[in-house]
This record gives sequence, C-alpha cells and structure tokens, in this order.
Amino acid sequence: MVSPTSPDAGPTPANTAEPRRYLVQTYGCQMNENDSERIAGLLEADGLEPAADLDDADVIVVNTCCIRENADNRLYSHLGHLKALKASRPGVEIVVGGCLAQKDRERVRERAPHVDLVLGTHNVHRAVDLLHDVRRTGPITEIWEETVLEDHQAFPSALAVQRDASYSAWLTIQIGCDNSCAFCIVPSVRGREISRPFGELLDEVGRLAAEGVVEITLLGQNVNSYGRDITTRLRGEPPDPYAAGPSWTADGAQRPRPLFADLLGAVAQVEGIRRVRYTSPHPKDLRPETIAAMADHGAVCPHLHLPLQSGNDSVLAAMHRGYTAERYLERLAAARAGIADLAVTTDIIVGFPGETEAQFVDTLAVVAEAGFDSAFTFVYSPRDGTEAASKVDRFVSAAVSAERMERLRAVVERSGREAHAARIGRVEEVIVERASKKDPNVLTGRTAQNKMVHFPVAAPIRFGSFANVVVTGAGGFYLLGELQEVTAGPRHRTRIPVVAR
Ligand code: 5AD
Ligand code: SF4
Repeated sequence: MVSPTSPDAGPTPANTAEPRRYLVQTYGCQMNENDSERIAGLLEADGLEPAADLDDADVIVVNTCCIRENADNRLYSHLGHLKALKASRPGVEIVVGGCLAQKDRERVRERAPHVDLVLGTHNVHRAVDLLHDVRRTGPITEIWEETVLEDHQAFPSALAVQRDASYSAWLTIQIGCDNSCAFCIVPSVRGREISRPFGELLDEVGRLAAEGVVEITLLGQNVNSYGRDITTRLRGEPPDPYAAGPSWTADGAQRPRPLFADLLGAVAQVEGIRRVRYTSPHPKDLRPETIAAMADHGAVCPHLHLPLQSGNDSVLAAMHRGYTAERYLERLAAARAGIADLAVTTDIIVGFPGETEAQFVDTLAVVAEAGFDSAFTFVYSPRDGTEAASKVDRFVSAAVSAERMERLRAVVERSGREAHAARIGRVEEVIVERASKKDPNVLTGRTAQNKMVHFPVAAPIRFGSFANVVVTGAGGFYLLGELQEVTAGPRHRTRIPVVAR
C-alpha cells in the first residue's frame, strides 16, 4: 500500500524568513477541484501562502485527471517543464496527485524522477505529512488502493478547505462509484462508493453557513445513491454510528437509511443556506422523493444535471447504464412536471465503440425531445482497463465522431437558445460572482438555474451579493441583463447556530 521509493536524501526547501508559497494546478472535474481545495487548505494550515504563478511557487501540486482525454502526454510535457524549473530552483517541491497518479503511479516516478511526491486519490489528506517526510527521506510514492473508512480524515470535507469563493462551497457527500459504466475509469481510480454520515454532513453545512457560505453544491459520482452503502455496512455491525444523527425525514420518522432526498431537504433548511445544488445524479436512481425535495424546498435550485450519455437503447445497454431512452425521458418529464421552471443539462458521449449512424440519430432525436438548456458533449476516449476500451475493432473513426459531434452540438445549441430566449423580460435573482476582465463595470452573476448573466453597473457590487437583474438578451450560453437592485450583501462572518430539522 505504501511505498517510499527512494531513501536518498531529498531536496531541502530554501530556508528563508518569507513564508513559502504554493500553487495547485487542477485538471478535470469538480471532484478534482474539491481535492485541490483540500490540498490548498492543508498547505495553508501548514503555514504556506498562495503563489501568484509557477515562478513564485515553492511547492507545486499538479492534480491530474484521467476521465476523458489522454491526459498522460500533457502531464509528462508539463512535468518536463517543471524539471527545468526545479533545475534552476532546487528547493522547489513537486507533488503529483489525482486519478492519473492513482492509475499510473510507477510510470510517473519513472518518467519524472524529479517529482518529490506522488499521491493517490484515497490519501489526499496525507499531502502535508508526506511532504514533511519527503524533506527527511527524499521522494515518496504513496498510493492507497482504497479509502480507509475508519479514517475520517479521508472524507474530503473533513479537512480544512481553501475555497475559491467565500460564499459558495462544495461538499463531497460520497466518494467512489459502485456502477460499472463500460466507458468509465472512475470506479477503478476512485474505488467503491462510500457515503459520508448524514449528521456529519449537516454539521459541516452548519459550520460553512456560519462562515458566510450561502450556496452549497453536494458532490459525488452518483449522488442520488447516497446512503446505499450505509445500509450494507450497518447490517450486523452494532453499535450503529449513523443512527445517532437527526431524524432523516421531515415527519421525524427514520427510514432504514437516509435517502439523498432527505439530505437535500435537510441541507436546504440549514439557516443561512440560500442555494443548494448537486452533481451528478444517475438517471436510473432518480427517485420521486428527490423530485419532491427539489419542489418542496425553495433553496434547492431548479437545475437538474442528468447525464444521458446516449439516446439509443442498444448503446445504453452496452454502456451498462441501466435505463432506456424512454425511461430517461419519463423521469425527465416527471421532474419537469414536479419542479417549476426547471433547467436541465446533460452529458453525452459521441462515438462509443460500435455506435452506428442510426444509433447516433436516435441520440439526436432524444436530445431534441429532452430540450436541454446545455450539454457537455464528449468524443468517446478509450480508458485503459475499461470494458469499452477492449473493443478496438468497433472503435468509431475520429472523423466520423467529429462530424457527429458537430451535428449534436447544433441540436443542443438550438434548445439552449430557445430556453435562454424564453427568459428575456424576466427578473432573475443572481449571486454576483465576478467582474469582466475587459471591463470592470460589467459584472457576471449566476441565476438559480445556473445561468450566467452579464450586466453593467454604475458602481461596484461586492462579490457574493444577491441582486435582481432584468434579462434583456440571450446567447447560446449566457444571458444579458440590467441591474434592478441589490437585495443582499455578502453575509457577515457571524456564528449562526445549525438548524437541522
Ligand atoms: N470517453 C468520453 N467521455 C467520457 N465520460 C466519462 N468517461 C468517458 C470516456 N471514456 C464523460 C461522461 C460522464 C462525464 C463526466 O464524462 O459523459 O458523464
Ligand atoms: Fe463512471 Fe458510470 Fe460511475 Fe458515473 S455512474 S462515475 S459514468 S461508472
């Protein structure tokens, strides 16, 4: 499990009175960004300060992803650049973490011996301790094969987190994935599904709210199966560490296990939390209770990211997705019927091994019917060790995939434009996020539906404020607006008691 790779004396950090500085470079998904924030939090707790850029950094952390692109080449060329940097400044420490490190541990070490620490996905919480060890022993590779459940530090949110925005936070509610989608590397690099205890999550939300956070995004590979592993684990294992939490259901009754819907409702009721988002649910696990929780709690944003992947039943079966196109559309219809003004986004893969023109046309038809606000569209990319990657003789050519991608994007863009145009004239509440780089008098805010609105202002507005904006124009991916009024400033950092009803 643990393998210090070299007992040689390693580099010694420069001994200056100045605080040392760190830079975390993130590739990939929100889970990785959350891990990066955790590493940044740990480094700051260890006395480091953020660096402005690579040249300013004493510790450089490269947090890698291997979900889609062939990230390997990009990583090794970047590490080549860092080798030169380290040659000129030997005190610099280089850490490589994340999914690619988990998967290719020895290769990273072989191809980039100048890396000081190689860290996997299950032991992010050990980053700083290991860096201290590196200073004594020299380069270390430490990869755990799975998350150690008893080690609560292993749960991402149990760590100090350095967040990008003070008003918005990610909360990892579950790590790993128990599904086996034929294209996906996640189960092999993130391990089995483990849910974080309900009561602990609520405590964390209470703490975040007390710090002034108003928006929480619940994160997991398959969020709506939250709690499934708790039941399995508890079977015959008294004392029950999870039963001590608050009642899960609104009426005070306890289910055999908490549902994702219970968590959503409970988080939405924490004092100070005004927006709750989540990503990503699996269509096969989208239960009526989740739709009801979204409908019932004003704080849960009317936005559903529901990955479709394909609109053809044979392709969906080959992907092991566990639903048909019809079933997907039925669940979507139920969500739209239950939740007022729902925005829907999705993920779609083009060119899955064996995908025929007729099967792709089925996807276009389902996408048109679903009327997505937007979609993340991906060309299939083989990931070593996954079932689909072995179907080499069925791979779809790059040219065909590229052509299909263009057609798919046109259909998505059409429904996106329609959805955005329909909002012209409406008043939207936004959280102000940032100013335009080109013009500081143009601000960008995000609506509850997760749409960006750009609007001019006469005087600055503090980021994290709530404002009402009239929508005046719409593009494929954004809205334009005029400021009506600022309704609330960023919240003060006063302690607010946790209310978990
Ligand atoms: N090739 C292309 N897209 C992929 N995704 C996951 N694995 C692959 C792959 N091998 C996409 C899926 C998933 C999203 C996070 O990434 O659409 O929902
Ligand atoms: Fe991958 Fe499927 Fe799990 Fe999502 S649900 S992480 S696509 S295996």
